Amino acid sequence: MSRSALSSVSALLAIAAVVRAQPDPADPTPLVDKHYAYPSGIPYQVDYNTAAIRGPQIGYNICNGTTENQDSLCQTSMVNHIDDFCLWAPPKPNSTIGDTEGQEVAWCTKPGRGTRLMPEGTLYGVQYIKTPNYIQIAGFVDQTKLNMAADDYGGELDPHGADLRGNPLGGLMYSNAFPSNNGNNDTYQQVIDWTNFMGGNGFCIKVCDPAGTNQQALCQNIYDRLGCAYNAPNNAQNGTFEVCQGDDMTPVGVYTSNGATMTYFQPPESLGPISSVPYTPVVPSSSSCVTYQSAQLYTGLPAPTGASGSAQPTGSAKPSGSKSGGAAAPSGTSNGAGALGVSTVAGAAGVLFAMAFLS
Ligand SMILES: *[C@@H]1O[C@H](CO)[C@@H](O)[C@H](O)[C@H]1NC(C)=O
Ligand SMILES: *[C@@H]1O[C@H](CO)[C@@H](O)[C@H](O)[C@H]1NC(C)=O
Ligand SMILES: *[C@@H]1O[C@H](CO)[C@@H](O)[C@H](O)[C@H]1NC(C)=O
Ligand SMILES: *[C@@H]1O[C@H](CO)[C@@H](O)[C@H](O)[C@H]1NC(C)=O
Repeated sequence: MSRSALSSVSALLAIAAVVRAQPDPADPTPLVDKHYAYPSGIPYQVDYNTAAIRGPQIGYNICNGTTENQDSLCQTSMVNHIDDFCLWAPPKPNSTIGDTEGQEVAWCTKPGRGTRLMPEGTLYGVQYIKTPNYIQIAGFVDQTKLNMAADDYGGELDPHGADLRGNPLGGLMYSNAFPSNNGNNDTYQQVIDWTNFMGGNGFCIKVCDPAGTNQQALCQNIYDRLGCAYNAPNNAQNGTFEVCQGDDMTPVGVYTSNGATMTYFQPPESLGPISSVPYTPVVPSSSSCVTYQSAQLYTGLPAPTGASGSAQPTGSAKPSGSKSGGAAAPSGTSNGAGALGVSTVAGAAGVLFAMAFLS
């Protein structure tokens, strides 16, 4: 397709994407406009209207010692550091993200926040990168320990969704990672622009600094079918736990072709599988990586039971207009520090991941 033809198609798709998101008349306030101080300002549920089309949120936002167990329906998440973050994953075993995107609950690496904990051995490799405007955590997991079906290629969770109520519905996220906290780990600010891909035994989560620049483009949520390789380009390695400094990525969808800056929009699902994307994402450069052993980072986690998550969600939060599986594996491309010995293998893995979600 010629460049001008691609541009005009892109423009049409952009309009379609804008029209697609419509507030639910029963709960017209978008989740991104619901702001609460942590923890005192947080209500029991931020999204409780039973008349809403997708029903009320299945869990709650006040999370404490009473709710801290492997059946917790806590939907208040924390994303702070390599040893202290939560991922969104299903409340019941053997679920797909596509079927449960409105219902996901927080699974965390640190006790004390009233959530479920990732069972021991969930995380196989994690890379935490801090850039001028966001933090990004990408890694390799045994997703069955997070109640995901073994073969689920997953999808994207974000505070938007077709009805602007978020996936999960009412899911809040807080962080102490940004300078506005002055390095004070005990103060948490709500983060509004975030995205979390889960699936393919990988994950990536990106949280943009509320006081940073270009948050909406850097934490863009409209490329839900393209996975981590495009949305959170990274060189996470399976088996490695590392903290790095990095540059900001180029906003998702933006690329250069013959010297011109172009913007790609993913096609709607009705047009079938995505067979090609006109650009290859670039992993931003990173430096000052410090590696850890997982045993140093993740203490106090429960042994896997194989029977966790038997809680019955209340309310009927059947997803409407659920997304098809986005690819969620880390890209596996490796041009970063510490990757030299395995670059060929990791590069091949990156290609396979890409083909898995494009096919
Ligand atoms: C603990 O959390 C539960 C569930 O949100 C809530 O019902 C309860 O009031 C909380 N307890 C305290 C002491 O805040
Ligand atoms: C998960 O669900 C699928 C489809 O419903 C089923 O075929 C499979 O046996 C289940 N796996 C486990 C471990 O329960
Ligand atoms: C904040 O937490 C990080 C990671 O958990 C830790 O490395 C750092 O030392 C902590 N800072 C303070 C001031 O406690
Ligand atoms: C990551 O490593 C673990 C442990 O060696 C392995 O079981 C798992 O399959 C690997 N994951 C991927 C996506 O290669």
